Amino acid sequence: MLKPVDFSKAKVIVELGSGDGCMTKKILAKMRKDAKLYAIELQSDFVKMLKAIDDKRLVVIQDTAERTHSLTPKADYIISGLPLTSLPKRVGENIIQSVLKTLKPNGSYIQFQYTLISYKKFKELFSDVKLSFTPLNFPPAFVYACTK
Ligand SMILES: C[S@@+](CC[C@H](N)C(=O)[O-])C[C@H]1O[C@@H](n2cnc3c(N)ncnc32)[C@H](O)[C@@H]1O
Repeated sequence: MLKPVDFSKAKVIVELGSGDGCMTKKILAKMRKDAKLYAIELQSDFVKMLKAIDDKRLVVIQDTAERTHSLTPKADYIISGLPLTSLPKRVGENIIQSVLKTLKPNGSYIQFQYTLISYKKFKELFSDVKLSFTPLNFPPAFVYACTK
């Protein structure tokens, strides 16, 4: 998931669906000292765990990823652990629209998925879509890196 991220340049990173913070900690470990990470998570129990991470660069926001564009500054990267295709269709569409509004020009959206179901849609909405496959994940997953 983090391979497409140029951490030497990224100043604003947004993580969607941060859960217990497992990916959040990996992102923080690679981030510049002057960068900010905005972690957006809906569930209170996970939000508590995220707030326990002691790092001044981390901003934890309890809200839906559908509102990302009104919650964060413009982002260099949006990294999503959201189960996009399992969410209600309208919620998924709202999230993608919000991602597009939030990304800086040339910013990238990174999304994992277990299927190729979103490939055509992402190709329509983004200027470039790179697809990779991670066989070591269980179950194996695709990673989409979509540039605005
Ligand atoms: C599969 S977990 C990913 C956890 C973590 N990112 C990881 O990779 O280990 C998905 C997370 O998305 C959160 N979530 C689901 N719908 C959401 C939404 N609309 N906005 C923000 N977070 C949401 C869930 O509460 C859950 O913590």
